[in-house]
Parts: sequence; structure tokens; C-alpha cells
Amino acid sequence: MTTQKLITNATKILNLGLVAVGASALLLTSACTKDHSQPNVELVQDMMDSPANLPQEYDDFFPDHSASRVPPEHTVPVGFKPYSIGFNVDLAKADKNPLQGSESSEVLLVGQKMYETNCMVCHGMKGRGDGPIVDKMPNKPPPVVSDKIKGWADGQIYQVISMGQGTMGSYASHVPQKYRWQLVNYIRHLQKTDKN
Ligand code: HEC
Repeated sequence: MTTQKLITNATKILNLGLVAVGASALLLTSACTKDHSQPNVELVQDMMDSPANLPQEYDDFFPDHSASRVPPEHTVPVGFKPYSIGFNVDLAKADKNPLQGSESSEVLLVGQKMYETNCMVCHGMKGRGDGPIVDKMPNKPPPVVSDKIKGWADGQIYQVISMGQGTMGSYASHVPQKYRWQLVNYIRHLQKTDKN
């Protein structure tokens, strides 16, 4: 190859390089100056979308081949507060409702969603113990708008949700703790608005 050819080839490579640099600079600026209401341009996608496992997926790596991992022993999720009161009614009575008396729409809408998803089927839309499945139940669910429950402390309703009562099982796994007081407030709201 002559020196002349070598120089021409080197210039070509240099030019190509410049074009590539220019193009990526253009892409980067367009990616960065974009309207923030739009999804950004993903240059290196693998770094943005982690290869997350799907629930119950097979996994080669772990000895039991389950991608769903059990949390390490003696650990709790961030923000998790175990329900330590158990069936102790005195402690439940003293358990303070941090949302006591709140009827804000944020609180009541969450409570309503929890109630209508988990409790309504037995205790009824308005809490009168007349849910759609009660005909099939030998032990009828009592109303939650009764004078008895009106006289309960908020913590006692929270206790029944967390621990269950008699033939009613615990709803701890259905109603996350962060929504339980909202559910209590929604029951209070049903009690206030109940017309006999
Ligand atoms: C499958 C039907 C069923 C569902 C669903 C259900 N309960 Fe109950 N609930 C019952 C029955 C039955 C009792 C009475 C249990 C007993 O004392 O033996 C009861 C009792 C109660 C009591 C005490 C009432 C009293 O007079 O002693 C409260 C409070 C209560 N439930 C709240 C709830 C809440 C809140 C939910 C939703 C998280 C819920 N229940 C879901 C059937 C149900």
C-alpha cells in the first residue's frame, strides 16, 4: 500500500469517527433536552431495564430453582411493624389510631376500597351484616355498625382485622398494615352514616 493510500484510508477512518462522535453527541443532546413529560431515549437499554424475575419463574442459580426468594431469617421489610398485641384486649384498647377521627377523602377512599374488597362480602355494603354470601353461612356475620362496635376502641377493630375473632379468620395478609387504620376509619364512617 502506498503512503498516499494509507493517508486516504486514515482520513476516511477519521471522518467516519467524527461522524459517529457527532451523531452520538446529537443523540445525547436530544435525549437530555427532551420534554420531561415524554419517555427518554434509551441508549444502553440493559442498564435501564434490569432482568427482573417474574413471580414463580424457574431460576438456574438457586438450589431450589425458584426465582421467588424467601427473605433472610430475622429480617422484616422496611417500615414493617409487627402486630405485637395478639389477642390482648386491654392493649388493643390502648392502641392509638394515628388517623383518629379523620374523614379526609384520602383516608376514606382507601378504607372503602379495603372494606369493599375484603369485608363487604360478609358484613354488607353498609356494614349491617347482610353481605351477599350470608345466606350460605351457618354462623352469620354480625353488623359492624352495631352499638357494640360503636362502643369499641379503634384499636379493637384493628385487632379483629389483624387477628380475626372466633369463626372470622385474620385479614392480616389481605389488608396491609399501612391501610388498616383507614379501614377502621371507614367503619367509623359507616357507623356515623348508618340510618336505621
Ligand atoms: C367470610 C365472612 C367474613 C369476612 C369476609 C369478614 N368477616 Fe368480620 N366477622 C365474620 C363473622 C362470622 C364474625 C363473628 C365471629 C365470631 O365472633 O365468632 C365477624 C366478626 C367481626 C367483628 C366483631 C363483631 C362483633 O360484634 O363482635 C368485626 C369488627 C369484624 N368482623 C370486622 C371485619 C372486617 C373489618 C373485615 C374485613 C377486613 C371482616 N370482618 C371480614 C365474618 C367475616
